[in-house]
Amino acid sequence: MTVRFDNRVAIVTGAGNGLGRAHALLLASRGAKVLVNDPGGARDGEGGDNAAADRVVAEIKAAGGQAAPNYDSVADPASAANIVKTAVDAFGTVDIVVNNAGILRDKSFPNMTMDDFDFVVKVHFLGTAYVTHAAWPILRQKAYGRIVVTSSNSGIYGNFGQTNYAGAKLAVVGFMNALRLEGAKYNIMVNALAPVAGTRMTEDLMTPEVLAKMKPEFVSPMVAYLCSEQCQRSGEIWAAGAGYFSRIEYREGPGVRVAGRAPTLEDVADNIEKIADLSTNSAYHTSTEEVQVVLGA
Ligand code: NAI
Repeated sequence: MTVRFDNRVAIVTGAGNGLGRAHALLLASRGAKVLVNDPGGARDGEGGDNAAADRVVAEIKAAGGQAAPNYDSVADPASAANIVKTAVDAFGTVDIVVNNAGILRDKSFPNMTMDDFDFVVKVHFLGTAYVTHAAWPILRQKAYGRIVVTSSNSGIYGNFGQTNYAGAKLAVVGFMNALRLEGAKYNIMVNALAPVAGTRMTEDLMTPEVLAKMKPEFVSPMVAYLCSEQCQRSGEIWAAGAGYFSRIEYREGPGVRVAGRAPTLEDVADNIEKIADLSTNSAYHTSTEEVQVVLGA
C-alpha cells in the first residue's frame, strides 16, 4: 500500500522541532501541502523565534515539497484560529490537523506554581481544542478530516513531577473520545498518539545510545497513517517510538454486583481484590455502553 497526501492540506502545530518537524517532513514528502506552525519558544514555552518554522519550511521546499510557515501560539483562541486561517489563505482548505505543540514545566506538585500548571494545560489541552475548533467547520463542511491529538505515556501511566503535563495529556484523550463521535458521520477520524522520541523535551533523560534508537522520524509513520485516507479507525490511542507501534485501550473488569439491597462499605472492603480483578475484562466504546453494564442492562 502506498500512502499519499496529494491535494491534502495538513496543519502541524509545533512543527519547528522534534516530532512535529518529523511529521511535517513525512507528510510533505508524500504530497501534502503543510502549514508549519511554530512560535519558536524554548522548551518551557518562553520566548519566540520565527526561524524554527522557517527552517522546516525551507527543508520541505528544498526537498521539492510544499509548505508555508505560521508563528502563532496554539494557546489562545484568536491566534489558534489564525493558524487555520493561514493554512486556508496559503492552500485553500484544511484536511488534516496534527495537534503536536507542547512544552514542559516540570516540578513536584507542592513546588509547582499554578501559573505553570495553567500554561501547560493551555498549550497541550486548550491549544488542541482551539486549533481543532477553528478547523472543524471546514472539515465538517467537506465531510473529510483526519485529526491527531498528542497524548503521552506520562498522562496514561503517570510520571513523577508532571501533574500539569500528565493531566493535560490525558485531557486530550477525553477530548478525542467525545469528538470522534461527533466526527463519525462526517468522515472525520480523530486519534491520539502516545509517542516516545529523543527530542529537546527528553534528551536530558537518556544516553546518546538510547537517543539514537528513538529518532522522532521513527514515530511519524504512525501519525501519517492516522492522517491518511486509508485510515478508517477513530477514537483510539496509539503508542509509537523506536520502531515500536501498538494500541492502548482501557479495560474494565467484571467487578462485583450487590443486588437486592443497598451496598455497604463492608461490601467494598471485603471484596476489594475481586472488585479490582481484571483477569477477565472488557473494553467499552462509549459512556452509554458502560452505563448499560453498570445498570446490569
Ligand atoms: P519539542 O520541544 O522538540 O517540540 C515541541 C514544539 O512545540 C516546539 O517546536 C515548540 O516551539 C512548539 N510549541 C510550544 N508551545 C507552542 C505553542 N503555544 N504553539 C505552537 N507551538 C508551540 O518536543 P517534542 O518531544 O517534539 O514534543 C512534541 C509533542 O509530543 C508534544 O506535545 C509532547 O508533549 C509530545 N510528547 C513527546 C514525547 C517525547 O518522548 N519526545 C513523549 C510524549 C509526548
